[in-house]
Amino acid sequence: MIIPQWIIEKKRDKQPLSRDEITSFIHGYHQETIPDYQMAALAMAIYLNGMSFEETAFLTEAMMSTGQNLDTSSLKLPVCDKHSTGGIGDKVSLILGPLAAACGVAVPMISGRGLGITGGTLDKLESIPGYRCDLSEAEMVKVVEKVGCCIVGQTERLAPADKKLYGLRDVTATVPSIPLITASIMCKKMSEGLGSLVLDVKAGRGAFMKDPDQARELAKNMVRVGAQMNTPVAALISRMDHPLGRCIGNALEVKESVEFLQGKVEGNLWEVTRELTATMITLSYPETSHAQALAQVDEALHSGLGLEIFRKMVVAQAGDPAVCDDPEAVLAKASTVQEVPASEAGYVLDVDAEAFGRAVLVLGGGRTRSEDKIDPAVGISALVQPGEKISKDQPLYLLHSNHAERTEKALDLLKNAITLGPDAPKIESVILERILPS
Ligand code: URA
Repeated sequence: MIIPQWIIEKKRDKQPLSRDEITSFIHGYHQETIPDYQMAALAMAIYLNGMSFEETAFLTEAMMSTGQNLDTSSLKLPVCDKHSTGGIGDKVSLILGPLAAACGVAVPMISGRGLGITGGTLDKLESIPGYRCDLSEAEMVKVVEKVGCCIVGQTERLAPADKKLYGLRDVTATVPSIPLITASIMCKKMSEGLGSLVLDVKAGRGAFMKDPDQARELAKNMVRVGAQMNTPVAALISRMDHPLGRCIGNALEVKESVEFLQGKVEGNLWEVTRELTATMITLSYPETSHAQALAQVDEALHSGLGLEIFRKMVVAQAGDPAVCDDPEAVLAKASTVQEVPASEAGYVLDVDAEAFGRAVLVLGGGRTRSEDKIDPAVGISALVQPGEKISKDQPLYLLHSNHAERTEKALDLLKNAITLGPDAPKIESVILERILPS
């Protein structure tokens, strides 16, 4: 028998918790013998006093063991997924899943919805008419067998304690804790029956982790938890100061992803997608070098195989495949599209990801509470990127809106979001660091 308050007391007093204590507490919370208020107290004690690496791994295992693992044993190819900690304009999953599948990786991707300023892959995909994110586990495996990848939502059976605990952390100011985030992400990913995992840990203004040192600590912790569970995990730390690509908003990002798979590749979106996909290939096929993997990704894109797999995935998940031929004809459109011109000529020095994330939220493209409905049509397109030369009156971006009042608010948030200057800036790589499994 466990006495929950003794466990809370230990963590409050900075003493390490044992595997048994952590497992019993999490199982008690899951089975509702431990109430929310005691779980909230323990989460706050962990937030304040941290956890050792061993405790974090025990917490991950305990959360995983509240559910079932996805049975991927029927898949013949190496199984790998990618997880991003979330950014502005981050539509990488839509492009990377099909490209990785084209290179011989089985990708049963489980994604999330957007909350706050960062968008969610499921919200983007649901802007395709008919697209179903709620596949059962058996359906998921069938789609991956047939197509090579699927992108779906979390099922009730995979690590259910995390959903409950995440909701509690959200309302008790205990989300930004490295051990709690590590366990939350890794328990879900490790339940997917993966052979390996690639993490995109974002750092910067538009990211959940603003500070690269914190992003590095989180990345290292997750890579180590993977190793402890005998699963190779690699993490890329990528810059999230500027939006990824030129569109932000759900339907607009689907359109951009399709155009990308049709071959319109450029900028920071390509760099990060290419690197992450290549890392999935090298983890899945360790005899392949990184350079060979990059060449395979390029071939998958330019041959059109990536787009073909995206089309098959959309069909297998009941979406309208016409999105692959003429996205604008199929996707929702906003009632007004306004050009925002540059007031002077110059080079784009900075595009503030956070300001753009807030503006799209205000337009209705994101949610502040998990039950909020989103407007798939609104957002930003044709956004300039750092380093581009702009003449006076040239559009800096197009703003898609369905409400005049929201348009005004968004424009106000974006007043100083783009900085121009007389000299071309030095464009740094979007990848800050790679942490590979040892
Ligand atoms: N994403 C998750 O899944 N869990 C966290 O705790 C934070 C981000």
